[in-house]
Amino acid sequence: MRNAKIAGMGFFVPENIVTNDDLAQMMETNDAWIQERTGIQERRWVIPGEDTTSGMGVKAAKMAIENANIDTQDIDFIIFATLSPDYYFPGPGVQVQEALGLDTIGALDVRNQCSGFVYALSVADQFIKTGMYNNILVIGSELHSGGLEKTTRGRGVSVIFGDGAGAAVVTPSDYSSGILSTHLHSEGAHAKELALIGPATNRWVDEIIKDGDPDDLSYYPHMNGNYVFKHAVTRFPQVIMEALTQNGYKPEDIDLLVPHQANLRIAQFIQRTMKLKDDQVYNNIMRYGNTTAASIPIALSEALQEGKVKKGDLVCLAAFGSGFTWASALIRW
Ligand code: UT7
Repeated sequence: MRNAKIAGMGFFVPENIVTNDDLAQMMETNDAWIQERTGIQERRWVIPGEDTTSGMGVKAAKMAIENANIDTQDIDFIIFATLSPDYYFPGPGVQVQEALGLDTIGALDVRNQCSGFVYALSVADQFIKTGMYNNILVIGSELHSGGLEKTTRGRGVSVIFGDGAGAAVVTPSDYSSGILSTHLHSEGAHAKELALIGPATNRWVDEIIKDGDPDDLSYYPHMNGNYVFKHAVTRFPQVIMEALTQNGYKPEDIDLLVPHQANLRIAQFIQRTMKLKDDQVYNNIMRYGNTTAASIPIALSEALQEGKVKKGDLVCLAAFGSGFTWASALIRW
């Protein structure tokens, strides 16, 4: 069976920078609280109407295709991970197929929130390994800003999330390099601890409007922050160790860990628990906030641009988020 590798990466973030001080104009919050609890200094928010989840995904995809040095027409499958699609249905994969002018190729949408990119990468890995496809476009893109409750009531959630997109081109590789393994997990018992409950088939728009309850927050993302934090700091090290153990490695063998950028405190906790050095962990949440499915491909793209990943390096991607879902991928670059 052949191996799969990431042949190119790209990303896109909106130009509009929203600082913590900007947020303090909208709600009772402050720069000191946000930095102390999350490490976030600023995030990018789309100016309403100027971009979309699929549009940002297309821009990241074009950069990844160029970086992979292939022709757009060589892409033979699309996998799109997001929790903030342009439409309730269809998912944004088909919009990418149309925007890139790709002739009726398959497009799959992945609904795994913060773990979405690693889940999508795992699907691509399997398709490449079986020989079904040769140049798969994997996208993680999110437009959070339009759906956040930007008031003091919503501050525990709205200060964290940012908009942006990242993409990878996954192609066949030789046996000495590429994706070594991927590890996917879920625990639906915690589904409502980090969720957007409605509008959905569980709670239709009509019902929300009919009830007219000002305290009904079902149409805003809800997060039980402390609860999510505690699970995250347990699951991240577990799933990273699972990947390392399966491949006969130890934490000191990792050249670069790119964790989902959920909260800088979570990344620092993982680093301490696993006794990793500063140069073994890549973080950019300070500049972009938490961009859920887009955070890993944006961070990996930047790490590559900064020369922090070289050929032969052992790279670990790991994520945890809503579902709960968590996942890792170990890659010999
Ligand atoms: O990406 C997917 C997974 N998501 C995560 O991994 C996120 C995990 N959770 C977290 O990162 C943290 O729980 C948060 C950053 C969301 C919150 O930090 P925390 O230390 O857990 O704060 P808290 O929710 O316990 O709130 C502490 C206090 C509260 O005030 P009182 O009750 O102590 O008076 C909050 O009302 O901070 C208050 N607070 C704020 N104050 C200023 C909550 N949000 C804010 C805010 N600005 N934005």
